[in-house]
Amino acid sequence: MQPDLIIRNAKFPWRNRLTEGEIVISSGKIIKLCKSFQGRGEKIINASRKIVLPGLIDVHVHLRDLNQAYKEDYYTGTCAAAAGGVTTVLDMPNTNPRTNSAKIIKMKKHIASKKAVVNVGFFSLFPNKPDDIRELAREGVVAFKVYPEDLRETSSSLHIFFEAAAANRKLVAAHPELPLQETYTSPHQFLQLHTSFVETIAALTYTEPAIKTNCQLHLCHITSEFTVEIVKKMKTCFPLLSCEVTPHHLLLTQDALEKEGSPLKVLPPLRSKRDIKALWKAINQGIIDVVASDHAPHQKAEKEIPFCEAASGFPGLETTLPLMLTQLNKGRITLQRLVDAFSERPAQIFRITNKGKVDEGYDADLTIIEPKKIDKIKPENFHSKAKLSPFEGWKTKGKPEITIVNGIVVMEQGEIVAPQGTGRIIEINK
Ligand code: DOR
Ligand code: ZN
Repeated sequence: MQPDLIIRNAKFPWRNRLTEGEIVISSGKIIKLCKSFQGRGEKIINASRKIVLPGLIDVHVHLRDLNQAYKEDYYTGTCAAAAGGVTTVLDMPNTNPRTNSAKIIKMKKHIASKKAVVNVGFFSLFPNKPDDIRELAREGVVAFKVYPEDLRETSSSLHIFFEAAAANRKLVAAHPELPLQETYTSPHQFLQLHTSFVETIAALTYTEPAIKTNCQLHLCHITSEFTVEIVKKMKTCFPLLSCEVTPHHLLLTQDALEKEGSPLKVLPPLRSKRDIKALWKAINQGIIDVVASDHAPHQKAEKEIPFCEAASGFPGLETTLPLMLTQLNKGRITLQRLVDAFSERPAQIFRITNKGKVDEGYDADLTIIEPKKIDKIKPENFHSKAKLSPFEGWKTKGKPEITIVNGIVVMEQGEIVAPQGTGRIIEINK
C-alpha cells in the first residue's frame, strides 16, 4: 500500500537539531523518517527551503461558540488556528453557558466534532460540587481552569477542589489575578488596579493548595518579573508547576496601552519594559514553559468603545507564529526553544500523547513554514470573526504555509482546504 503523504526535502527538528530527510505519513501517523524514501505516495509535498515543525499546540484559546457564536465559533476559530499553523487548541471554559458540567462538555464535544478543522480539547471550570470532578474527568476534559472569582471561595473549599482534581489526575490551570472592584475609567487606573504585584500574590495563593494536595498547576499568561522569580524558586521544590506567556505580553508595553487605550486592553494588562525583559529571559531559559495565544475574539463594536466598557483581549491564533518567527529571525529566541514552547512542552504538560514532536509513531500534525517570508499583519484577512489586532500593520518575517492535521492538509497558503470535522476531539483519560 502506498503511503498517503510523503514530505520530501524536509528540514525538521529531530532530537535537538535540525535534520534533513523525508517524512512518510499513513493513516494520520508519521510512519517513517528517512534520508530518502524509495517509493511513491498518494500525495507529495516538496518542502525544500521550508522547515517542517511539529504542529503548534495552543493551550489557551477562547473558541466561544454556543451563545457567543457571533464572536467566534468552532469552525471560524479552528480555521484561524489552521491559518496560524496551530494543529491543536485547548478551549477555555468561560463561555456562555459556563462550562462546568459533564452535560456542557458533552454538548461542546458533539458540536465541535462536526465543525473543527484542527484538534480541540476542552477545559472545564470547577463544578458546583467537588464530587462532580470525577464525571468531568471521565469526559476527558484536559484540565480545570480557575479564575480570580474562585478566590472569593474559602481557602478550605479551594483545597477540596484541588484535592479532587489531583485524585482524578487532572491539572489545574489558573488565571493569576485577584478578584478586584473594577473601579477604573482610564488605562492608568486599570494598571494601578491590576498590578504585577497582584499577579504574584495570586500565583502564590494558587501554589499553596497545589503543593498541599500535590496537584499539577499551570499558571496562565504570566506577565511580571516578580512572578518569574517566584516560579523559578517554586519549580525547584514543586516540579508539578508550569507556566505560559503570550506574544502580546512579550511584545507590547504598558506605555502603548496608556497611549492607545481600548484596542490594547487585555487581562492581565501589558507591563513595563523591565517586566518584558524578564519574560524574554525566562522563556529563553525554559523557566516559562509555553507560549500560548490567549486568543480572545471580540467584535469591533465591543472593543472600540470607552476604555472602562471595552472588552479585554484580542484574537491571537493567526499572529502568534509569524510574530514569534520574526523574533527568531531577530535572534531573540532559538528554533529549538520555540518548538519546545509551542509543541513539546504543551504536549508533556497536558499529557497529550503522540503529539508535539516530528518522530516515527507520532500523529502527523505538522506545520510547514517559510522561515524568511516577509508579510504584514492584516486583520481584515483573518479567518477569525474578530477582524482586529493590536499588531495591525506589523511587518513579520517567517510564515506558516501548510498546516497538516492527522495527515490531512487543512491549510495551504492561507486557504482552508479541508472540510469541517477534520479535527478530532482530544480527551485526556489517563
Ligand atoms: O483579556 C482577556 N480576555 N483575559 C481573559 O482572561 C479572558 C479573555 C476573554 O475571555 O475575552
Ligand atoms: Zn484567556
